[in-house]
Amino acid sequence: MSQPILKVENVDQRFSGLHALKRVSFELIEGEILGIIGPNGAGKSTLFNAIVSLVPPVSGAIWFRDRNIVGLPTHRIAELGIAKTSQSVQVFGEMTARDNVAVAALLTAKSVSAARAAAQEELEFWGLEGHADTLAQDLPLAQRSLLELARAMMLHPQVLLVDEVMAGLNEIEVDDILDRLVRINRERGVSLMVIEHNMRALMKISSRILALDYGSVLTVGKPEEVSRHKQVIEAYLGVE
Ligand SMILES: Nc1ncnc2c1ncn2[C@@H]1O[C@H](COP(=O)(O)OP(=O)(O)O)[C@@H](O)[C@H]1O
Ligand SMILES: [Mg+2]
Repeated sequence: MSQPILKVENVDQRFSGLHALKRVSFELIEGEILGIIGPNGAGKSTLFNAIVSLVPPVSGAIWFRDRNIVGLPTHRIAELGIAKTSQSVQVFGEMTARDNVAVAALLTAKSVSAARAAAQEELEFWGLEGHADTLAQDLPLAQRSLLELARAMMLHPQVLLVDEVMAGLNEIEVDDILDRLVRINRERGVSLMVIEHNMRALMKISSRILALDYGSVLTVGKPEEVSRHKQVIEAYLGVE
């Protein structure tokens, strides 16, 4: 349980004049939920895009188990076992929730019927079976977020990167997603990195929290330590 599954080493990202990630280093321990916080523009999504090679870093190494994955194509990284919600896992609005999940399932299933069966099971895991025949574009926001997670899970990831999937949801919907994220972590063995603005939510499920600011790691630690960290309070929570 205490081995790193992902190790980010001195990762730098630059966009013309902007130094978006500055020698970012940290480890994701196998089996943990690592929360990621930081003000808008801190580089959180850029970090995820670097990990899955949507925008590879300009320097540094990203170790997935024993392998440096920098430079590998995104689909190869997905095959190795790292999935990300939102950008890489696009929801098709004009398809039903069931078909959205089945299409994702086809990437790994041995047959169409196996993909359908896997999709049905996944829809049930996320409480979406009642919405299976609804077009994705007609789903309420909370169910659309759940659908993104269901689709990402069809890649059978060992590591799942979740980028602000709770944005715009009410407290009950947030708690529902939190419960299910904890279940994929505990019952299905997926290590998680979760970017989230809702600190209350993140504190509840994270074993550790990484705080980013202006592309640099401010601190990594237990939620209660990070929430007391002076620079985190200044940068993120606002000085009180
Ligand atoms: N592909 C890109 N091209 C140019 N600038 C980018 C690109 N992606 C992100 N940025 C910039 O990098 C900074 C960090 O962005 P982002 O990682 O999206 O922040 P966060 O997710 O923490 O809110 C921002 O200033 C953003 O405008
Ligand atoms: Mg972002």
